[in-house]
Amino acid sequence: MCGIVGYIGNEDAREIIIKGLKRLEYRGYDSAGIALLKGEDSTFHIYKDKGRVSRLQEITDFSYKSCLGIGHTRWATHGVPNQVNSHPHQSEKSRFFIVHNGVIDNYKELKSEELNGNNFTSDTDTEVIAHIIEKYSNEMKVDEAIRKTMSLLEGSYALAIIDTQNQNKLYACKNKSPLLLGLSDKGIIIASDVMALVGYSTKYVPLKDKTFVEITGINYKTLDIIGKEVEHEVKVIDIDYFNVEKGEYSHFMLKEISEQPSVIRTIISKYFDGEEVILNGDVSKAIKDSDRLYIIAAGTSMNAGYIGKELFEKMALIPTEVHIASEIAYNMPILSKKPLFIFISQSGETADLRAVLVNVRANGYRSLTITNVKTSTLAREADLFVEIHAGPEIAVASTKAYTAQICILAILAYGLSDKHINLRKEFSKLAISIENIIDKREYIETLVKDNLTKRNCFYIGRGIDYYACLESSLKLKEISYIQTEGFAAGELKHGTIALIEKDTPVIAIISQRKINKNTRSNLNEVKSRGARTLVISTWGVHEHGDQIVLDDVYELLSPILTIIPTQFIAYYAALQRNYDIDKPRNLAKSVTVE
Ligand code: F6R
Repeated sequence: MCGIVGYIGNEDAREIIIKGLKRLEYRGYDSAGIALLKGEDSTFHIYKDKGRVSRLQEITDFSYKSCLGIGHTRWATHGVPNQVNSHPHQSEKSRFFIVHNGVIDNYKELKSEELNGNNFTSDTDTEVIAHIIEKYSNEMKVDEAIRKTMSLLEGSYALAIIDTQNQNKLYACKNKSPLLLGLSDKGIIIASDVMALVGYSTKYVPLKDKTFVEITGINYKTLDIIGKEVEHEVKVIDIDYFNVEKGEYSHFMLKEISEQPSVIRTIISKYFDGEEVILNGDVSKAIKDSDRLYIIAAGTSMNAGYIGKELFEKMALIPTEVHIASEIAYNMPILSKKPLFIFISQSGETADLRAVLVNVRANGYRSLTITNVKTSTLAREADLFVEIHAGPEIAVASTKAYTAQICILAILAYGLSDKHINLRKEFSKLAISIENIIDKREYIETLVKDNLTKRNCFYIGRGIDYYACLESSLKLKEISYIQTEGFAAGELKHGTIALIEKDTPVIAIISQRKINKNTRSNLNEVKSRGARTLVISTWGVHEHGDQIVLDDVYELLSPILTIIPTQFIAYYAALQRNYDIDKPRNLAKSVTVE
């Protein structure tokens, strides 16, 4: 969601910014733009439009070298995606150029109270910021004007700012939305995430909320809102460049689905010593000391959280609740005496989760983040953090992060269980079973062609299979745009069965012995009403005619396996419809606004 890349230094700003924006494409966006200094005649030029970064490359003038610029990918919040609303935006007299990630809650008030009479060209909240900076720069120094503006803004922002009257400087500031500085001896990059820095910087500075940065060449100052210097940490980037390339695969999603066995093996290598789980003792203690776990997440990560609830309750006997982050953020339930909040987030940047974390910390409750991005805001700000080691996930639709999150939740629950299974062995078995399905993916492709012929679809299951259905349906709808519901199989007959008609696809997931018969009778109910049914089962519960039969695995871990064919179902349904699989419409990978 909205990506920022800015550069000042001796290298070609355009190349660094456009490459960086391409690396941020995975976050999701609908427009792209760039502002560049043309050094020879000291002029600034803006190129921007609705569409992809490749469109930006087409419209950008490549005939000059630039050493200062800011770029942006926009995910529309205020105003439709079009050329005018794309960033960079300018102040009224075009002195300042800015790009923004975030949402300014009081932009309407600021417009009328601070900028009465100004002319605006776009519908965005961002343009208001540029105008205010310009207004105050008439009364004070530019750095003061920006900090004054920060003090007026309510909401979230990461900003990169050019003052056209001072071509040796680049400014940035941030609150809530992520922003960092990439350091090198040739220049400094401002970016929304480390992905944009790979290949240019080896070190970076994650910026804290309400920080203002003034960059001059390769030097920078980090100040707070009143101009007092703030400390910052310099960290090392350890992302492998090759991990962020597609390689032999036609799509990142296909690559990431196929990487799941190796992700599980990586997790084994990181969290096991022989058969023993090795975990940070503080993490185990925090879970053990709590009387109830509150899992906070969104989307796919929340679906992993539901499996986590089963694991914590059934393996470790710890009561666990799962909450939608955007709901609990402003509607906290009555809590137990010793709650532990567990934040599950692939990106570690989701604004809905951050809003809860801020509240949790303010109230002095303990927090643990489970994430794929150890450099992320949620990883930094929670008391404790566990890394899922899935490697960079570029496709917007999350696949390997989901299975890795479940593995980590299983490890945490197992650590406190009576250890009646050998988790390491179960993980190894799962990795092999996943490979078996990956080998059969062409067969799944034909099933999709024959069965997913309608605009809608249902996934049904019970218990943990139901939770796998929630994730399976999310996957299918987000990339193939087939309206899909994940349903508790027994609940369908209480109303929703009215939607079943001839050839409506209904896919059942059955991996649990004790509910096998019940789910099958629910399948018969929809079959008798014309549904086209498809069954994904495990060997121990399979029946003749089931289309996809998977290996038997430890039942509580079955979603790690049953999800794989459904990821392929989503992938092939989108492929057959010719959709942009890695960048589905309207979606963002890193959802940094509430
Ligand atoms: C769907 C998907 C989203 C994310 C959700 C939360 O494939 O990826 O539903 O799970 O936006 O994002 P994170 O996990 O980064 O907090």
